[in-house]
Amino acid sequence: MKTNIIGKPVDRVDARLKVTGAAKYAAEFNQNQMAYAFPVRSTIGNGSITNIDTSAAEKAGGVLAVLTHKNAPRLKQINPQEIMKAVGGGGIPGEILLPVQDNKVHYWGQYIGLVVAETYEQARTAAQLVKVDYVKSPLVIDLEKEKSKGFKPEKVFGFEDVQIHEGNAANAIKSAPVEIEQTYTTSTENHHPMEPHATIAVWEGTDKLTLYDATQGVKDSQGIAAYVLNLKPENVQVIAPYIGGGFGCKGQWMNPILAAMGAQVVKRPVKFALTRQMMQTNTGRRGATIQKIALASDQSGKLTAIRHLNDTYTSNLTEFFEPSGLPTKVLYAAPNREITHTVAHLNIGTPTTMRAPGEANFALESAMDELADKLKIDPIQLRIINHADADPLKKIAWSSEYLKECYRTGAEKFGWNRRNQTPRMNRNGKYLIGYGMATATYPAFRSSATVRIRMTADGAVKVMCATQDIGTGTYTIMAQTAADALGVPIEKITVDLGDSSLPLAPVSGGSTTTASVIPAVLATAEVLRQDLMRMAIADGKSKLNGRKIEEIEYRDTKLFVKGDASKNDSYSDLMRRNSKTMMEACTTAMPASGVGLSGNSAPCQTAPFALEENSDATKYSFHSFGAQFAEVMVDEDLGIVRVSRFTSVQDVGRIMNEKTARSQVIGGVIYGLGAALMEATEYDKRWANPVTRTLADYHVPVNLDVPPIDVYFIGKPDPHISPIGARGLGEIGTTGVAAAIANAVFNATGQRIRDLPLTPDKLL
Ligand code: MOS
Repeated sequence: MKTNIIGKPVDRVDARLKVTGAAKYAAEFNQNQMAYAFPVRSTIGNGSITNIDTSAAEKAGGVLAVLTHKNAPRLKQINPQEIMKAVGGGGIPGEILLPVQDNKVHYWGQYIGLVVAETYEQARTAAQLVKVDYVKSPLVIDLEKEKSKGFKPEKVFGFEDVQIHEGNAANAIKSAPVEIEQTYTTSTENHHPMEPHATIAVWEGTDKLTLYDATQGVKDSQGIAAYVLNLKPENVQVIAPYIGGGFGCKGQWMNPILAAMGAQVVKRPVKFALTRQMMQTNTGRRGATIQKIALASDQSGKLTAIRHLNDTYTSNLTEFFEPSGLPTKVLYAAPNREITHTVAHLNIGTPTTMRAPGEANFALESAMDELADKLKIDPIQLRIINHADADPLKKIAWSSEYLKECYRTGAEKFGWNRRNQTPRMNRNGKYLIGYGMATATYPAFRSSATVRIRMTADGAVKVMCATQDIGTGTYTIMAQTAADALGVPIEKITVDLGDSSLPLAPVSGGSTTTASVIPAVLATAEVLRQDLMRMAIADGKSKLNGRKIEEIEYRDTKLFVKGDASKNDSYSDLMRRNSKTMMEACTTAMPASGVGLSGNSAPCQTAPFALEENSDATKYSFHSFGAQFAEVMVDEDLGIVRVSRFTSVQDVGRIMNEKTARSQVIGGVIYGLGAALMEATEYDKRWANPVTRTLADYHVPVNLDVPPIDVYFIGKPDPHISPIGARGLGEIGTTGVAAAIANAVFNATGQRIRDLPLTPDKLL
């Protein structure tokens, strides 16, 4: 495969639009005659509404409509199996709860009404005038108290086994010469992307709907809206050209549906933009976990057993829960392994995917550090001793794996040899300095995706796909791929995405976009280029007339004979001579055993590459790995931890763009730093409301919290995932980060903190 611009640190093709404010986000597609919606939210955590009085709100200035469960348009009840088929991109609704359809309250902050008014302020004011009487049911909030009542689900995401019993871990642990067992806890965390969720709903007549919606999956948003509003999918268009961060919360929540209902009633376009407070209650969260880990080894550190017991919670509105035992399925060779997940029901809202769901890997990587300390073995050495050369449960080869190289590179770049194995030995003035490391891991998913490419006779190229750029650089790497595969300068390429009317692509979740969409861009460009070549070969006026495809090269919008660039033909000349104003190709690229999308748009021709046969998940385990290294400075008088340096080394296959890839990993590390040191959603146990309501109480890292972050990639293409060899990298960067920081704090202070976030009170 030819790579000229692929891999290079090319600037984002949308950079200028973003920094000048020209890139339009969902809430910015203002319409004529647009009205504004503001929800009424429940102020109890469990129970039902006995009376809802909207009379004062209806009389308030500018109010156009007040929707409650009594008068709101009826939605089609969700059948979970059926809706999965309706969801085009393979995602799932955040929760199965239709808004304002009945009087039941499942959690504090639930949408129970919607005010639509002439202005945002009028809608917000009137929403406060709605009087609601409730009858309360008992609240169940405390995970520690409820965990014994939890159930044991078989799977998460519908396919991943979460109860693992391999060998006999209990016996191995009992008879092991060396053993540690500890409990680690993580807090509930909330999503706060830069752009909160927002929708503008525009009806055309009564059966055509356009949604400008901040979503990670335009096809999913289209499918769900069509389903619950009883519309033909082709009559619903979802548009999201730019998204200010997704991280797993912009799967499908009910804000687009509420906006559509409001717009239906007032017969005008309606904007519904969530506030920061609503981000705490209406768009899911990462559930808290209690994780008990036992590691057993011989004296040399070779693991004989791993037992990882996970407790977390869910609501009765989803099958999702934080599957915190997943990294333990792939990390380290150990003959005996037990992983369980027990899930309790709490009344604090619905958990959802949050960057690397289940894979944060705080507990296992802390436990490995504890074992290394007990054995007086270097933590990297302990990991190398226990390195899994093949997938330890599936017992098949990794598609491509360089974890030991990640450790080696990271140790060298970070200066790991300066670490003292004994805590409290490194001081700088009043600060204790510590070094810690952890393994990063995330599965590599790939779905089918379809791309259409159009080249016009002026040499301009348009690449089209209903994928999303959630801030990651999708536009840029699609343009780079098309540029190389067509031999066209990147400036000539425009990318159209974020529109459900384009060819089908998966939800931008699970780090799947690059792995899925890029092979489709490549395959489609390949088809288009070969069409051009065949046209030249058949064209009596072409200097390539009568040649074979294998003899023809391409570069700079030209075809030419290999070894003789004087025998050439430009795409423009070729198309003009053949009376073509444009050429087009459309191709679906599919992994041999990948997720076949249910799909509500017909696929184009399927990519004919033999190499695709390699991407067989029954033969290879597709997984990414990396290594994280943290240096911390601890002020023991104040209990303050500052991360002073961070090094991250990732093996994610081919790097499509060194600059956007690096940014992704930096973002992932900062995400992990937040989880390590500050992020926690706290609930008032009397009411079940989050008391961390805004960014003033729910702390995320700010610039001063973020140290220099060095990122390195192994960069070797994965020969099995696709012809281009790129796995995803949206999530792996955050995995292992909190453990590396907590391990560094132990190395600095000798204090082992097993409860995240690692706030000053826990160190004092
Ligand atoms: Mo990711 S948490 O699957 O958007």
